[in-house]
Amino acid sequence: MLKGKKILLGISGGIAAYKSPELIRQLIAEGAEVKVVATKNALEFVTPVSLQTVSRNRVYFEVFEPIGNFNPEHISHADWGDMLLVAPATANIIGKFACGIADDALSTLYLAFDKPVFIAPAMNTRMYEHPVVQRNMRQLQAFNVQFIEPVYGELACNTLGKGRMEEPENIVSFLKEYFDGN
Ligand SMILES: Cc1cc2nc3c(=O)[nH]c(=O)nc-3n(C[C@H](O)[C@H](O)[C@H](O)COP(=O)(O)O)c2cc1C
Repeated sequence: MLKGKKILLGISGGIAAYKSPELIRQLIAEGAEVKVVATKNALEFVTPVSLQTVSRNRVYFEVFEPIGNFNPEHISHADWGDMLLVAPATANIIGKFACGIADDALSTLYLAFDKPVFIAPAMNTRMYEHPVVQRNMRQLQAFNVQFIEPVYGELACNTLGKGRMEEPENIVSFLKEYFDGN
């Protein structure tokens, strides 16, 4: 059940970010509220206007943005969300999360967030299979992060392999099953 759930959707700079508006639409159709937290590189692939129109909320991507209250946004967003879903998650953002690096809005929010975290990686097969990426994912699993595994298919680099982000409807099903069982 996602009805009434407040979902922070983290988007990082992978080609699969073009699917984000569709993912948001499906989450909202399930009765969830969605706020987007994007890396600046994600916004090379999908625009804030699309994301805020579909999510019906302003997109948070700048740590040092003047705001109308005294609670920094990485904290107010962390207070607001029931879960953090990062889809697509780049090799870079997974590495930052695993190492505690907090140098942008999404990685800073991750450290301030103490509720369930779900990560849907998406990247080239060689990147996905690289030992350092595999190590970073194991590290995050040890921190109780849930992974929504990428699938085999066509990749942005025009090859076939494992690394394609799971389809939005399957990400939504994964979250529904998780919350039905917890
Ligand atoms: C066209 C294009 C597609 C890319 N797709 C991916 C991808 O699917 N996964 C990934 O990990 N990196 C991908 N990258 C590389 C990331 O954009 C790059 O590592 C960037 O620093 C990630 O920044 P972020 O994690 O802050 O969003 C891609 C780059 C380009 C130019």
